[in-house]
Amino acid sequence: MTRAAITAVGHYLPEDRLTNSDLERMVDTNDEWILTRTGIRERRILWDKDKATSFMATEAAREVLAKRGIGPEEIEVIIVATVTPDMLFPATACLVQANLEARNAWGFDLSAACSGFLFALNTGAGLVESGRYGKVLVIGADKMSSIVDYTDRTTCVIFGDGAGAVLLEADTQGCGLIDSALNSDGSSWDALCMRGGGSLHPPSHETIDQRMHYLYQEGRTVFKVAVEGMADVAVKVMARNGLTGDDIRFLVPHQANQRIIDATARRMGITLDKVMLNIHRYGNTTAATIPLCLYDWERDLLRGDNLVLAAFGGGFTWGATYMKWAYDGAPVAVDAEAEMVAEG
Ligand code: ACO
Repeated sequence: MTRAAITAVGHYLPEDRLTNSDLERMVDTNDEWILTRTGIRERRILWDKDKATSFMATEAAREVLAKRGIGPEEIEVIIVATVTPDMLFPATACLVQANLEARNAWGFDLSAACSGFLFALNTGAGLVESGRYGKVLVIGADKMSSIVDYTDRTTCVIFGDGAGAVLLEADTQGCGLIDSALNSDGSSWDALCMRGGGSLHPPSHETIDQRMHYLYQEGRTVFKVAVEGMADVAVKVMARNGLTGDDIRFLVPHQANQRIIDATARRMGITLDKVMLNIHRYGNTTAATIPLCLYDWERDLLRGDNLVLAAFGGGFTWGATYMKWAYDGAPVAVDAEAEMVAEG
């Protein structure tokens, strides 16, 4: 049986940090509130106005190519999950394709907020499992600082910028994506959204005056459904595959709030040492959180390890994926093109 397996992970994080004490000087908040309510200590911000999501996505993709030791022309499909595309169109995937010079690739963007990477991963896996595509790049990237209102203390403390990327290839020996439970429910779309800038509210003086180009979130409403939704799908996927907490090597959760993650782990019956958690360092990077976790823990993973990936986000969208990891440790990055030049 052919499954789609992750065969390399790359990342990009801006160097600039925005700490809780920096935020204390910007809005009426404090380190203690942010840390206890969310688990976040600092986030990375891409302040450079000339660089956007495609820049971070490209850097993450380049690291994937270098670690896998392949050239950009080998990539056949590029899927970029993001809610902060460089522009409404063309797709960020097209900009990444051009930056990489991935001549043989087609691609598209996928919009599912914080579940974006999980949805893109499953979409890419379908393309690999079909047998039509051998190498699919799946990228989660968001420049959240471009849509965050830094005068709104209820949202600006949460989000950060970053990108993570993975390569999907066929595995015929039992590793890769095994099962997923994915959901959308648009009936509460207005609890987490950015109203302005689309075809319903095109940019105008009015949309600017009403601050409609910023992310809006009813935190408490989203928290309640996120806690339930993320745990429900994770437990469902475990039950369907006969998994207990002991069988799972790691939960790889979307990093929105440490309290949501803790509750999910509890419902799954796994201890916190089996939970990938880096929210304290990067905050919520939306589509990038899950691949950034995979990047940070890659060196600890072994072929055959059982992982459950779980996410909840705007839409609402949510889901969980059960996969068997396909390789041991973190490969060293190799520049395939430079090697080819050196070899003549
Ligand atoms: N500093 C200090 N006080 C604050 C801050 C802050 N930064 N923000 C809010 N408060 C205050 C509120 O005004 C409120 O005060 P009040 O009781 O006097 O009215 C109090 O703190 C509690 O506010 P809540 O909103 O109830 O705080 P809560 O514990 O729910 O935490 C948070 C807020 C962190 C946003 C939480 O609700 C949350 O994590 N929600 C879910 C986020 C999520 O999962 N989003 C989905 C993914 S994101 C995506 O898809 C793009």
